[in-house]
Amino acid sequence: MLIFDIKIASGMENKTEIVICLGSSCFSRGNKTTVRLIDNWLKENRLRDKVYYHGNHCFANCDKGPVLKIDDTIHHHVDAEKAIQILKDYFGL
Ligand code: FES
Repeated sequence: MLIFDIKIASGMENKTEIVICLGSSCFSRGNKTTVRLIDNWLKENRLRDKVYYHGNHCFANCDKGPVLKIDDTIHHHVDAEKAIQILKDYFGL
């Protein structure tokens, strides 16, 4: 309920939240590249204004990283190729 309230307060209630882990472990193991790749993919598919895409510090799942979170689902061991496939599946593209 608290998350729902925060989304309303910030005007994000109709947007998909995509969070990429930019903690040092995930960053060095691939998210350094994936962060830009996702941004470009969202722009190419005209989804940038439909998502709230941002980075976050460590999710405390470093052993399962790189980590990507979409809404309430945390994806583990996400390389660039897997990230794009996850996005395609999520958005039905
Ligand atoms: S650095 Fe990504 S889960 Fe720890």
